[in-house]
Amino acid sequence: MVVAKRSSELPLPRIDPLPRHVAVIMDGNGRWARLRGLSRSEGHRAGARNIRTVVERFAEHGVNTLTLFAFSTENWGRPQSEVRAIMRLGSEFIDRHLEELDASGVRIEHIGDPDGLPRGLRHRVEEAVERTAGNRRILLNIAFNYGGRADIVSAVRRLVGEGVRAEDVTEEAIASRLATAGSCDPDLLIRTGAEHRISNFLVWQSAYSEYYFSGALWPDFGAAEVDAALIEFSRRRRRFGLVSPGPGADG
Ligand code: IPE
Ligand code: IPE
Ligand code: MG
Repeated sequence: MVVAKRSSELPLPRIDPLPRHVAVIMDGNGRWARLRGLSRSEGHRAGARNIRTVVERFAEHGVNTLTLFAFSTENWGRPQSEVRAIMRLGSEFIDRHLEELDASGVRIEHIGDPDGLPRGLRHRVEEAVERTAGNRRILLNIAFNYGGRADIVSAVRRLVGEGVRAEDVTEEAIASRLATAGSCDPDLLIRTGAEHRISNFLVWQSAYSEYYFSGALWPDFGAAEVDAALIEFSRRRRRFGLVSPGPGADG
């Protein structure tokens, strides 16, 4: 078996242009576990362990914002034992890594509904957000109990609650009330685990993201896979609905 290198041991390729905001749907923990005859919870444990490596690699590259999809509003429909294991792992992750993430300049934010979370996890999340609020190296948004449609619904509710007039309901007015307000939209959206769908992640914010689908199951998505995704991004030509530059574009 090839042992994955620590990210710092891999030479860092220069990426140009570099995405400012990368979002990742961390999928494939269950299949990773099944392939090894382990329980799904063990797969989630391996997935949680992998987060640290990936955050560090994106930070080494100089990516400003990383948004990780860890638990969707739909994931509550999974067996209770699996949901409980994921909640426990959320708390364990913070207990284990908060100090180190803080020391390495990671600012943690939570996006999603905190109300649905067990009290212990909610408190740990609050602690992580408060403790790291002054860090500037990379912003890590953890999407936990997050749904893209729920995000839009809550933005619209806020608009209505504030009494905003119909003619003032603009794209900017909505975007500034989404959970990601203050960050630019993701330039690059990665999904691991060989599925090609968005599964109610950042449905508004990813309107013009570049999509990158990796066959790697999330626990296997390491520093080399981060580099490959960034290299592919740097080769894409984004047009935002405009004509492509170059000869022959005048008719
Ligand atoms: C992603 O891995 C983690 C969560 C959705 C919480 P999965 O648990 O979806 O893994 P697969 O897709 O079943 O392999
Ligand atoms: C998306 O993965 C949610 C997270 C990675 C947190 P799922 O495994 O829940 O998505 P589907 O069910 O395959 O669409
Ligand atoms: Mg899945």
